[in-house]
Amino acid sequence: MISKQIDIIRRITDFEPEIAVVLGSGLGEFAKQVDKVCEIKYSDIEGMPVSTAPNHEGKFVFGNIGNKRIAVMQGRVHLYEGYSPQEAVMPIRIMRALGAEKLILTNASGGINKNFKVGDFMVISDHISSFVPSPLIGQNDNQLGVRFPDMSNAYDKELKSIIIKTAKELSIPVKQGVYAQLTGPQFETPAEIKMLSSIGTDAVGMSTAIEAIAAVHCGFKVCGVSLIANLACGITDMPLTEEEVSNTANASSKQFEALLSGVIRNI
Ligand code: HPA
Repeated sequence: MISKQIDIIRRITDFEPEIAVVLGSGLGEFAKQVDKVCEIKYSDIEGMPVSTAPNHEGKFVFGNIGNKRIAVMQGRVHLYEGYSPQEAVMPIRIMRALGAEKLILTNASGGINKNFKVGDFMVISDHISSFVPSPLIGQNDNQLGVRFPDMSNAYDKELKSIIIKTAKELSIPVKQGVYAQLTGPQFETPAEIKMLSSIGTDAVGMSTAIEAIAAVHCGFKVCGVSLIANLACGITDMPLTEEEVSNTANASSKQFEALLSGVIRNI
């Protein structure tokens, strides 16, 4: 399914990442911390979906942080851009095929838990993907993974404890919680947020859960961090804007970069 894309990448680089990282909205600056070996734009890989979302560059950056070899997705692809769930997770499968075994997902999301403030980081303890189609629908590629993957430990406990330990070392407070994915692109209504809250959602966004599903399916150990970029609709009376999301991401980017590079070094 992705052999053509792997061939194209392998003609450019033989880099074998250990850790894969997906950078969320407005968090792309982290890629500058990478001691870069090579970068490849999604648009240079035939058949790859390209990022059209604001603040999503749309390229793979390969290189090192400390002694770790990493592949970074600077910009992801979302369902609301018109991509199928299978297309949206293609870059995740590519990074696994290149050799990465651990995946760090990041995103900007809306805070639902009443104890969350704008600018908080939330370690994802679990997710709700029931409002979006699964990326595993369709014929199963048995080379990639099993037909019915177990999701009881989708977010790896050991990676989660590394994030919490690193945050403590850096004196960065972190929350933990359940992330729910909706398709977007519209922000939610107050009634939707009330529903999400009642089923145990702490933060809501438009990515990540389908990536975690595809990643677990193809054998990644997965962890995730959400930046609470705004309080979700109805939690605050303020109308939500894309600008608020990117302003928070900019304001939190230094802390985010410190946390992420610390986590990579501690893995
Ligand atoms: N809802 C959905 N997605 C988001 C939000 C939100 O409030 N903030 C950032 N991404």
